[in-house]
Amino acid sequence: MIAAMGYEHILLELEPPIATLTLNRPKVLNALSPELIRELTTALAELDADENVRAVVLTGGPKVFAAGADIGDMADRGAVDQLRRDQTGRWAPLAGFSKPLIAAVNGYALGGGCEVALMCDLILAGETARFGQPEINLGIIPGAGGTQRWPRSIGKYVAMEVMLTGAPVTAQRAYELGVVNKVVPAEMTVGLAQRMARQIAEKPPLAARMAKEAVLKAFDSPLTEGLASERKSFYFLFATEDQKEGMHAFLEKRKGVFKGR
Ligand code: CAA
Repeated sequence: MIAAMGYEHILLELEPPIATLTLNRPKVLNALSPELIRELTTALAELDADENVRAVVLTGGPKVFAAGADIGDMADRGAVDQLRRDQTGRWAPLAGFSKPLIAAVNGYALGGGCEVALMCDLILAGETARFGQPEINLGIIPGAGGTQRWPRSIGKYVAMEVMLTGAPVTAQRAYELGVVNKVVPAEMTVGLAQRMARQIAEKPPLAARMAKEAVLKAFDSPLTEGLASERKSFYFLFATEDQKEGMHAFLEKRKGVFKGR
């Protein structure tokens, strides 16, 4: 059963064990206003706490994922104001979401919209998707991780091109660069992302959580620290019921049933 929860700027469809979040300000191309960010991060915190949800899809509209931070909201703000309201720091619940999160991107993912996609764990791109950081055209730079996540994903030179020219890259080029997992027909992007979410939701949730944590750790720690952290998580998983279930199910030639315990 699908339960749709009411927010003003996003849509939340609960279809356990997955959920789908849709950015929903089509008139301004899903510009990321403070209200939208508040709703999205509130919904994410709820989904993170909901044991029935094991993977989440985040999408925008059929023609645009999100055109970035709301320029109308920012144009006349000062530095102190921006620091006080910490507009970009508010994305922490997205970057720190503990469950697998799949971005389903059609059309423009620009500025903060691109950074939102980069904070997800997997990215499915419709053929129409365009990823870019046009902030330089506005006299600013990306503020929600773009300058850090692009080079960590694809290296220095193309990341520089993306930041300095402001020109978006096509879905196909993003795929060739390794920023997206798959390029698919635009009308199938969300459905395929949901299918992938359901496949992942069948896996033992604690192992999925530890795998996600471990991969993210590789982005911001030296190898020895990352390996030590991986080892601890590996040993920890032997304290879970799901590890016993997974291994015994294999030995008994049946499909494991995982409880997240
Ligand atoms: N903020 C506020 N409103 C926006 C917006 C944004 N980021 N992007 C688009 N809109 C609005 C437009 O002002 C327009 O409103 P009106 O109908 O009232 O005029 C409406 O959405 C439709 O936009 P366009 O007419 O421009 O549509 P288009 O199809 O011709 O162009 C586009 C599409 C190329 C995405 C273009 O809208 C665009 O360049 N948008 C801005 C992209 C951008 O610069 N994003 C970076 C923002 S800064 C940021 O994100 C900082 C950060 O790192 C957190």
